[in-house]
Order: sequence, then C-alpha cells, then structure tokens
Amino acid sequence: MYVAEGLPPGVPLYLQVTAYADYDLAVSLQAASLGCASGEEPYTLTLAWQFALTPQFPGLPLEVTATDVVVAVLERARAACYAATNLKLLPPAWREHGFERMGERFCLRARFREGVTFLQQDLRTALPERQFDLILCRNLVFTYFDTPTQQAMLARLLAHQQPGGALVIGRREALPAGAGGLLPWPNAERQAIFRYTP
Ligand SMILES: C[S@@+](CC[C@H](N)C(=O)[O-])C[C@H]1O[C@@H](n2cnc3c(N)ncnc32)[C@H](O)[C@@H]1O
Repeated sequence: MYVAEGLPPGVPLYLQVTAYADYDLAVSLQAASLGCASGEEPYTLTLAWQFALTPQFPGLPLEVTATDVVVAVLERARAACYAATNLKLLPPAWREHGFERMGERFCLRARFREGVTFLQQDLRTALPERQFDLILCRNLVFTYFDTPTQQAMLARLLAHQQPGGALVIGRREALPAGAGGLLPWPNAERQAIFRYTP
C-alpha cells in the first residue's frame, strides 16, 4: 500500500517536517522508514519530495534509510517494480512521470531511487546509526510488540530522533503510556504524527 495520508495536493503531511528546521543550515533531510516492506513507503517519500516539495526547499536533498528484517521484501524494494494496483493511490502525475512500464509492471525511474538506502535489520536489535528528522515506524512496533517491548523500542527510536523532528506511527496505532517528549504534530492529530521536543 502506498502512503496516501494527507495527500490532497500530493504530499504526506509528515514530509513537511522541515518547517521546524533551520533550513538555511540544513545539509540534507534525513528520514527513516523502519519496516519498509517492499519499498512503497520510502519511495513515496522520494516521489513526494521531488514532485511536490523540492520547489519549497531547493537544494535540500532527502535521504531515506529504509530497513526491514525480511530479505525477500528488501529484494523487491531494491527492484522497485510494482503492479498497477500498488500504485493506484498515487497522484496520477506521479504514476505517469515517476514510473516506466516494463511489461505488466511499473518500475520506478532511477532518480526516485537515488537517496534511498536499504538495510536488512531486525529493529529489536539494530537501528541505523544516525539521527533522523523524520522516523516512520508504522504498523509494526506499536501493533505487534507487547507493551514493555513497545516502551523499550520507543526509547531507542527517540535516541535516533532529532529534537524538533517527527515520529510517525500507524493511524490505528497508539504510543505506549509514559511516552515523554512527544506531542501531537500541530494540526495533524488524526494522522499519528508526533513532534519530539525533549
Ligand atoms: C505491516 S508491514 C508495514 C509496512 C509499512 N511500514 C506500512 O505501514 O505500510 C510490517 C513490515 O515490518 C517488517 N518487520 C516485521 N518484523 C520486523 C522486525 N523485527 N524488524 C524489522 N522489520 C520487521 C515486515 O517484514 C513488514 O515488511
């Protein structure tokens, strides 16, 4: 499933996290997609960034680190070719200009794959070694893990979160009790976006 939340003009609301940052000083916008499945989530970020947000932030590259524990899904993610049904939630212009048809499949053009790094990691034991402006951790930790594991994972995630940045969880998920330093992102309460203000 492609991320289609908050998309009216084509942009996931959570991508607008740069609004918090000192844009003039920023070298790049760093995003993490944890439990990235077959690449739909990280590539939606690069599509949205290039089609909709680059004019607002010229010269600021988006770099996405995407992790999953399953080798087979990472292979599909790296291949970046999808059936038409996987793309139907994308804005038509993104579909048309972002992909090229290869038989029955639609393959993401190279420029939208650049800046995405895939890592095989089990997030219970490993996380990418850097700080992120935006962390997507949707429909995994806060659905499948028990509460103590969620609490421990959240603390580990926040150790990788830039102050002022955004943590995004699934729309039907909730943070465990005792999650300090996280406030609902202004005007985005229903989208499960939280701002980290330690
Ligand atoms: C339900 S999908 C969510 C995909 C995407 N985040 C979304 O919301 O559309 C969960 C993904 O997490 C991956 N996963 C499950 N356990 C994991 C773990 N311990 N570490 C990393 N990834 C894991 C699965 O392989 C799967 O791709």
